[in-house]
Amino acid sequence: MKKKFYIKTWGCKMNEYDSFKIIHLLQINNNYQLTQIPEEADLLLLNTCSIREKAQEKVFHQLGRWKEYKKNNPKVIIAVGGCVASQEGYYIQKRAYYVDIVFGPQTLHRLPNMIQYVINTKRKVADVSFPKLEKFNIHNKYIITKPVSYISIMEGCNKYCSFCIVPYTRGKEISRSAKDILFEITQLAKQGTREINLLGQNVNAYRGIHDDGSICRFSELLRLISNIPGIDRIRYITSHPVEFTDDIIDVYRDIPKLVNFLHLPVQSGSDKILRLMRRFYTIKDYKNIIYKLKQIRPNIQISSDFIVAFPGENQEDFQKTMHLISEVDFDMSYSFIYSARPGTPAYNMKNIISDVEKKKRLYILQERILQQTIRFSRRMQGTIQSVLVEGVSKKYPEKIFGRTENNRIVSFKGKNSFIGKFVNVKISNVHSYSLSGNIVSVEE
Ligand code: SAH
Ligand code: F3S
Repeated sequence: MKKKFYIKTWGCKMNEYDSFKIIHLLQINNNYQLTQIPEEADLLLLNTCSIREKAQEKVFHQLGRWKEYKKNNPKVIIAVGGCVASQEGYYIQKRAYYVDIVFGPQTLHRLPNMIQYVINTKRKVADVSFPKLEKFNIHNKYIITKPVSYISIMEGCNKYCSFCIVPYTRGKEISRSAKDILFEITQLAKQGTREINLLGQNVNAYRGIHDDGSICRFSELLRLISNIPGIDRIRYITSHPVEFTDDIIDVYRDIPKLVNFLHLPVQSGSDKILRLMRRFYTIKDYKNIIYKLKQIRPNIQISSDFIVAFPGENQEDFQKTMHLISEVDFDMSYSFIYSARPGTPAYNMKNIISDVEKKKRLYILQERILQQTIRFSRRMQGTIQSVLVEGVSKKYPEKIFGRTENNRIVSFKGKNSFIGKFVNVKISNVHSYSLSGNIVSVEE
């Protein structure tokens, strides 16, 4: 009988993507089978996130539960990966002696061998090093067909925003070669992918190397991808305002396949706070990018990330953020209370904002964003939207669902054979984040 493994994933899209790769690695290399039931697993994997508070505590809490399974069956292997693993390394095994494997975001491709090593030697192993590009080599070997696919084009971050742990856990920016990326997307397209989501901590810092040694910038990569037959929609997350150069804006003019929706994290509406955050742009710079984009794409919708209650943020700074939210008219966005991360420059900054005030600011901000999100959704009522059908709706099993260009999930009645096709849907009902409607036409 095949051995079984269970995987729990916390955190960002990149982590989800990493877990997806891990699943395939273990199925193919170790002949393991995925299970949704942790109690029956021979191998328990935790892919962790350390972006905000209590990450470590959450990990040890989860591990404590898994320790019980190991008591019942000492052969169970426990592996911890992701950003907490990267940060803590073998200290995880010091504190939780029953953890067999610690691997980092850049060593997950070594997992099959690490598992075999543990089985053969009954010893523990920890590898959270940053071997350059090695991980990317596994990418194009494991391809699964879906109408919407994700692909990592670069990893790591060199920005060192004063609040952020990512540069320490995922290492420096490294880009995959354009040739590899184009090859993988071509394979995906041949097998039915119509929409591609490019992933990276800072996709616009992408600098791939062509075979002739010349540099491929993000804008060039977008153009090359848009030429791949079968790819009809292109999205990416996340980009940084500092590197949002004019050559990228030009792509919005030339390539309609690039969606009319952009996630561009701003974090704060106050220049003073942006300086303390080490973001290296001003609100004027940010608004200038949006202005240029709107010149070309008047209806482009913008979403963002916000941090409230960063040390030194006073009422005036917070109001500046609220003002920016109205002015740019942000669509659905992510927002967080600042969380001090050990090892980051902002960690020791004095923060006098009370917990009540922090929560209040977050609430006010989220309410405003929600209002704007609903307004954008309501405007869609009665319109006809192009939707790429992704599958059967989880919520309404008699319906199928897909996404609009502006990233709204729409559910509607339709045949399963429409999965993978673009359909035109007339929007009838509007909820805050999702929509429902009726098909008016299906592509040939
Ligand atoms: N460019 C990255 C950003 C990573 S972190 C990406 O791929 O998304 C995602 C978001 O988490 C950031 O934009 C920021 O808003 C938030 N964040 C990061 N560190 C944080 C901290 N210490 N406290 C609160 N929010 C944080
Ligand atoms: Fe983090 Fe700033 Fe990089 S938010 S991921 S250090 S751009």
